[in-house]
Amino acid sequence: MKDYTMKVILFLFTICAAQGAVHMVGGFREIPLEDVPKDPYLQKEIDTGLQIAATRMNAVKTANGTKNEKPLKILQLLQVFSQVVSGVNYKLVVKVDIDGQNKTCGMCVTHLAPWLNGGTWLLRPCSENDPCSPFIPRDHPRSPRSVSLLGGPHEVDTNDNMAQQAAQWAVEHINKMSNSLFMQSLLKVTHATEQVINGLRYHFLLTTVFTSCRNAPENHHKTLSECLATTESKPQECDVSVIYSQNKYTMENFKCKPHREAVENVQKRSAVARMEILGGDNHDYLPHGDDKCAEHVPAFKEFKIQYDRLYGSPAEEARRFKIFCDNMEKVKIIQSVEQGSAQYGATKFADLSEEEFKKMHLGFKPPVSLKRQWPQAKIPEGPIPDSWDWREHNAVTPVKNQGWCGSCWAFSTTGNIEGQWAINSPSHQLLSLSEQELVDCDKLDQGCNGGFMYDAYEAIKDLGGIETETDYKYTGEDGKCQFNKSEVVAKVTGAVNISKNEEDMAAWLYKNGPISIGINSFPMQFYKWGIAHPWKFFCDPNALDHGVLIVGYGKKGKEPYWIIKNSWGSNWGREGYYYIYRGDGSCGLNTMCSSATVA
Ligand SMILES: *[C@@H]1O[C@H](CO)[C@@H](O)[C@H](O)[C@H]1NC(C)=O
Ligand SMILES: *[C@@H]1O[C@H](CO)[C@@H](O)[C@H](O)[C@H]1NC(C)=O
Ligand SMILES: *[C@@H]1O[C@H](CO)[C@@H](O)[C@H](O)[C@H]1NC(C)=O
Ligand SMILES: *[C@@H]1O[C@H](CO)[C@@H](O)[C@H](O)[C@H]1NC(C)=O
Repeated sequence: MKDYTMKVILFLFTICAAQGAVHMVGGFREIPLEDVPKDPYLQKEIDTGLQIAATRMNAVKTANGTKNEKPLKILQLLQVFSQVVSGVNYKLVVKVDIDGQNKTCGMCVTHLAPWLNGGTWLLRPCSENDPCSPFIPRDHPRSPRSVSLLGGPHEVDTNDNMAQQAAQWAVEHINKMSNSLFMQSLLKVTHATEQVINGLRYHFLLTTVFTSCRNAPENHHKTLSECLATTESKPQECDVSVIYSQNKYTMENFKCKPHREAVENVQKRSAVARMEILGGDNHDYLPHGDDKCAEHVPAFKEFKIQYDRLYGSPAEEARRFKIFCDNMEKVKIIQSVEQGSAQYGATKFADLSEEEFKKMHLGFKPPVSLKRQWPQAKIPEGPIPDSWDWREHNAVTPVKNQGWCGSCWAFSTTGNIEGQWAINSPSHQLLSLSEQELVDCDKLDQGCNGGFMYDAYEAIKDLGGIETETDYKYTGEDGKCQFNKSEVVAKVTGAVNISKNEEDMAAWLYKNGPISIGINSFPMQFYKWGIAHPWKFFCDPNALDHGVLIVGYGKKGKEPYWIIKNSWGSNWGREGYYYIYRGDGSCGLNTMCSSATVA
């Protein structure tokens, strides 16, 4: 090692001395070709430089999947130049055979800090129109770390064409692999390295953002200007590794996580990747002289940060702020007439209009005429405990999210059957069951346009059972029925209609399991916590519009309550649950109670 260091120093000294004598210090100096073999150190330097350049060039050829694949061959070294930097720059002029044609090209390599563990090599194009330059990545202009150990990864410019294409492919692939309802788009390549293998391996840090477009194949190639980031725009940071070889990309691995910092950074700037974002202290969205809305500006800012909101344009942001403001006025009224301990406020739905909210998050349709009349459930006799919670008895799966599809009825149904299967089937297994099977295959109901639990039991019975969530994944849109009978894990034998009397309901629930119910969801858009007890005038018991699942009951002080599992994700309400007053038919919760039966 010492010996090597001495050689390097001596070598550098020789070049410097020669340069000092002939040229301006720091310029390129031509080394006569016949001198190269006389100096074993120099010979080794040049061989390594040529090897690095040729390896990279061949990797690009392999990556691009050239037909009649012929490795590129270095035929002859024509000229050598060197320049001392914090290491040595070499410019090697060579004759190469590129696809059967002899060309003269330059290979510019730098051997940085050769005295540190052998140093690191860096490859650059010598000039834009050199025949070698398409094979060689532009290096990052500001990064002194853009170096390459022979065979190791090296940093590349995040704007490099090939790197950008690989990053775009990666995001498309992530969309394909993801069961998210919304498509994410590439906002920025934060960091990129490339490694020359049999082809090229890219490692990226990417910032992506969820857009308003559905995560569907026909949208995957769309850009951010076509699929704007709007209400559910959560930036993500993805750590991704992609291989490009034979004109094909393959994903080695990827991991995405929410990127809070990105939200804040993006909001500080006015335009990012063709997206205009209003933020910071800019109050352009506040209509002049609108004093009523002025008080909601700080809450709106907080809301945007809490729920990772990015809006596609200043106009969209202004529109959303207006809706937010109207909603916060509505919240004041709901809160003022609340008879229980519930708190209402800016939930994740606070920037949706009532119409949008109804269309996207409900979907309960009481049928005009029932296709099937289910028998009345037997109410068990005897005392019941003061409180009961099926979540504590392995009968309730984690809270799910119906997304922007009116499929609440399917979630209410699966939630009920999950409980029945865990409690009353011989296997006593708690399985997460498929809502998508109902959305796609239950022809008695209308998929994302709504449905009804009574019919869903019948549909599952007729189909011959229900698959698991894993085997029949939720997509949140109407699709072709892909029911596979051999993947059925639970069967339904029928259903029962449960009493309107809330004491009977509790007795039935304690003995048998969670109950599917219809409810008027009006106050739920803004429910945050506490026990809701809305005034009847605000929550008409005859206007049911949502299907949910009662999983337990209890009493806090003088307030008896039901525990209701909702399907709006766990970041709504109390970890996805709604607590509502028990005993006076609040919001019609007792008017359509049912359960499947299993054997
Ligand atoms: C290889 O393919 C990339 C991406 O299609 C392209 O940008 C590049 O110019 C190609 N390089 C060569 C040497 O053909
Ligand atoms: C390329 O150069 C090699 C020798 O360096 C020679 O044998 C060959 O004929 C040349 N090919 C063409 C197409 O000029
Ligand atoms: C149905 O599921 C079974 C078991 O998983 C599988 O072997 C079969 O290929 C599936 N059939 C279809 C048509 O997908
Ligand atoms: C369910 O039972 C209630 C009475 O508890 C009754 O009013 C209602 O019509 C029944 N519905 C069905 C579908 O059987």
